[in-house]
Amino acid sequence: MQTLITEMFEIKHPIIQGGMHYVGFAELAAAVSNAGGLGIITGLTQKTPDALAKEIERCNKMTNKPFGVNLTFLPVIEAPDYPGYIKAIIDGGVKIVETAGNNPAKWLPMLKENGMKVIHKCTTVRHALKAEGLGCDALSIDGFECGGHPGEDDIPNMILLPRAAEELKVPFVSSGGMADARSLVASLAMGAEGMNMGTRFIATKEAPVHENVKQAILAATELDTRLVMRPLRNTERVLNNAAVERILEKEKELGSHIKFDDIIKEVAGVYPSVMLEGEMDAGPWSCGMVAGLIHDIPTVQELVDRIMAESEELIRTRLERMI
Ligand SMILES: Cc1cc2nc3c(=O)[nH]c(=O)nc-3n(C[C@H](O)[C@H](O)[C@H](O)COP(=O)(O)O)c2cc1C
Repeated sequence: MQTLITEMFEIKHPIIQGGMHYVGFAELAAAVSNAGGLGIITGLTQKTPDALAKEIERCNKMTNKPFGVNLTFLPVIEAPDYPGYIKAIIDGGVKIVETAGNNPAKWLPMLKENGMKVIHKCTTVRHALKAEGLGCDALSIDGFECGGHPGEDDIPNMILLPRAAEELKVPFVSSGGMADARSLVASLAMGAEGMNMGTRFIATKEAPVHENVKQAILAATELDTRLVMRPLRNTERVLNNAAVERILEKEKELGSHIKFDDIIKEVAGVYPSVMLEGEMDAGPWSCGMVAGLIHDIPTVQELVDRIMAESEELIRTRLERMI
């Protein structure tokens, strides 16, 4: 399948693996790229630019296909060493960056001057238009269904994607709630040039996370995610667990008086405990509603091959038959 996204990123299939904290290590990024998609290393999971440089080097040894690095711009007072991380990306020979979390304006010139293709992930059409105006090459349009941070506008992809298609000039991929051939074909029908998946890629053999995480996704249904930190305007879609219920209780109790400090103990340092140690109740961790569509743990290659074969089948038989 050829789309503007496969051409832009020089990949075989229009499938991207979004950056994921403590999941997007070299093993997963390389597996996705080797399967013909675009794998992405999560920059800030690496504690220093030096550590990111080493992770990129590891990934370069595992694949000779293009892969990218995710740079998440966090709403924090003490910003990570972004220039250092960008230098590691450039020096590592990486040519694709997925930006997310906030407006990439400050760092875009440095990325573009060094020949990067930048795909910006955002949750509203107005943010997408802003990013397009700044010079981003492509967009990842993250609907309300998504695992992680869906923003505050709550527009699901059935509306958000066609709206993006109405407004944007640069190519975009769908993101949030994507799991299979149906997701891909529907995304293409709504104007996207490919799709980005997060949660689905965690439940694969190569995802370097604890088996408990994969089993939790398999056991979950589409009813099992919750939105935390909404009163702080930092909404995160997470899988429900005991810690999440405590946070939601506190949010209800404190109402609009809540401050980040009130929940910091529940959210700080959670990811290594969950993803690496398999402590499933350690705190809130991002997971999409799409968990309800995930019923197996294939290899990344099996997953990508299945999506592409079934997409062709869907287009050539089911859809063709209806005309
Ligand atoms: C466990 C997990 C961690 C994530 N961490 C990040 C992150 O650090 N930076 C980022 O831009 N997106 C992050 N995301 C969002 C994904 O890149 C992607 O946009 C999202 O998962 C898409 O929705 P889906 O899970 O329904 O496929 C994370 C998602 C998950 C599930």
